[in-house]
Amino acid sequence: MTGNNSDIQKKLIDGRLIASEIELSISEKIVELKNKGIVPSIAVILVGENPASVVYVRNKERAAQRCGILSKKDIYPESLTEKELLNKIEELNNDPLIHGILVQLPLPSHIDEKKIMEAINPAKDVDGFHPLNVGKIFTENASFYPCTPYGILKMLDYYDIPVKGKNCVIIGQSNIVGKPLAVMLMNRLATVSSLNIFTKDVKSIAAGADILISATGKAHLIDENYVKDGAVVIDVGISNIGGKLCGDVNFERVINKVSKITPVPGGVGPLTVAVLMENTVKSALIKSGIKNKRNKK
Ligand code: GUN
Repeated sequence: MTGNNSDIQKKLIDGRLIASEIELSISEKIVELKNKGIVPSIAVILVGENPASVVYVRNKERAAQRCGILSKKDIYPESLTEKELLNKIEELNNDPLIHGILVQLPLPSHIDEKKIMEAINPAKDVDGFHPLNVGKIFTENASFYPCTPYGILKMLDYYDIPVKGKNCVIIGQSNIVGKPLAVMLMNRLATVSSLNIFTKDVKSIAAGADILISATGKAHLIDENYVKDGAVVIDVGISNIGGKLCGDVNFERVINKVSKITPVPGGVGPLTVAVLMENTVKSALIKSGIKNKRNKK
């Protein structure tokens, strides 16, 4: 890696800083709710022991504690049946004290994720994965936008990185990140390319990006050959290589080319969690009548 430390610092998108500002901004709303006797609350369901999911759920629980949001964690063995999970969701849908329901993905293969997402009451769908909320991304009136894509937009906004008319290339087309992000960027009049594992010549398409977003989970896939001079690089990937967390992007090899970059850890991850907290508070505000559904922000 060349360039001195302060040059590198200037290029970093500080996800932890933005997340802490979001947490601060929602804390005032939480006080308002608590003054009305309402404690915002989220139910987090984890099925099985996927190591990454265990860590993500723990991070969500910790953030809730920091913010003063009640978090109810339900951990079930891998053997939980689909019917049992649907019953649990129904119970949470009907619980007036629960404002947000999150089922950590991926689920074991015997459970149909689509069926589970559809079972969550859209008004408590703080992940933004229910088909009703997904559809409303198109019309820009979703109650809840998916946390990682929304967090990425917040990052770009925080650093005044314009999107309109820019070439945005997204590598990875998952329902959680790539697909909703593509539509959210299109809503802002970006020119969006969505790449998947069958895309021919990912490298040359990526190298044309003003804003390159990688969400593949393939450690160090992105090197200097994928990055245009001055590009903004958003690294959504998170892999554990020999006990060390690293992203899709080979940071050392691209740092001299980028104008801005998210580190791993400390980039996208904290934003995902902060937006989840924000969505949970929003759900509580809507239910309490303090906030109107159409009042998006
Ligand atoms: N698995 C990876 N990211 C997410 C997320 O944002 N929400 C849920 N529910 N599961 C995930």
